[in-house]
Amino acid sequence: MKSKWLGLSLLLIPTISLGQSSFVQSVFNQGMIKHGKEIYLQRCVGCHGVNGDGKGEAAMFLDPKPRDFTTGTYKFRSTPLDSLPTDEDLMRTLSKGLTGTSMPSFHLIPEVSRLAVIQYIKTFSDAWQDEDNYNGPLGGAPLPAEAFRSHDSFIAMAKKGRALYVENCLTCHGQEGLGDGEGAEGLEDDWGFAIKPANLTLKSIKSGHSVEDIYRVIMTGIGGTPMPSFKDVISDKEMWDVSAFVLYLRGKGAGMYGDELPISKITEDEI
Ligand code: HEC
Ligand code: HEC
Repeated sequence: MKSKWLGLSLLLIPTISLGQSSFVQSVFNQGMIKHGKEIYLQRCVGCHGVNGDGKGEAAMFLDPKPRDFTTGTYKFRSTPLDSLPTDEDLMRTLSKGLTGTSMPSFHLIPEVSRLAVIQYIKTFSDAWQDEDNYNGPLGGAPLPAEAFRSHDSFIAMAKKGRALYVENCLTCHGQEGLGDGEGAEGLEDDWGFAIKPANLTLKSIKSGHSVEDIYRVIMTGIGGTPMPSFKDVISDKEMWDVSAFVLYLRGKGAGMYGDELPISKITEDEI
């Protein structure tokens, strides 16, 4: 699925990646950044601050705090931990917002304006000038769509996922997924704020509701937080099993297994 802005974003990055910056392109980029700044000053400044440091006027009332864009560390990416997000990642965050936090969804502002403000927030950090920080998305294994459609195969996956969860996740997310494991105490993020492992039984997984969103976050980890990347720990295929178990936990708590998944209520003795 290639939308218009993806094509546009390809035009914007080449200043670094192709080294062929033409006059036309740089005028185009400047126009985008100027428009992005206007949007930023209207829509983002109150939380993210005029210098992009996350210290807008509303920030003192918010938890979690608005992102500080000056460090170049981003939580939600499709790319490896410590890499910059792609424009598509930032577009996802902007379009969907971050559930359970004050970060709103901006799907009502035109796509081109969303893309422009994305280019503008990049001006707050030099990290975007260093080619080493750019990496492509981690692919992972394709979604076993059929397995997620049948009650029995879903349960089989979630069972395998439970064993991997106990081994890798329980220490932070706890036995029941409430975010209260032994390792959950006293955690801090890279910006110096206290942070808790997510309560996986709630609806509010920040990066989205679909099983693909859960898979991506397990694969890539959450930048600037103690949530590690499991890319080299759990196999690409088995990460779908873990994702199924996370869905099971959410189904148990919030009664919601995932967008568009026809899974009927699962009882505890089935898993
Ligand atoms: C009402 C406050 C608020 C407004 C307005 C707001 N944000 Fe945010 N934003 C947040 C908070 C809070 C977070 C951090 C959530 C977290 O860390 O879990 C965030 C996170 C983000 C992230 C995620 C970065 C990452 O680490 O992956 C991006 C990108 C972002 N905001 C861009 C914007 C842009 C662009 C605008 C304006 C169009 C905007 N925000 C407006 C509160 C806000
Ligand atoms: C060292 C502690 C730690 C371990 C181990 C850990 N997590 Fe996390 N996890 C966190 C923290 C902290 C957050 C919250 C980050 C945030 O809100 O910014 C989190 C958030 C999440 C989220 C919510 C993502 C979102 O978009 O809101 C999911 C899903 C998740 N973890 C799944 C897992 C799974 C599955 C495992 C094991 C394979 C695991 N975690 C292991 C600490 C951990």
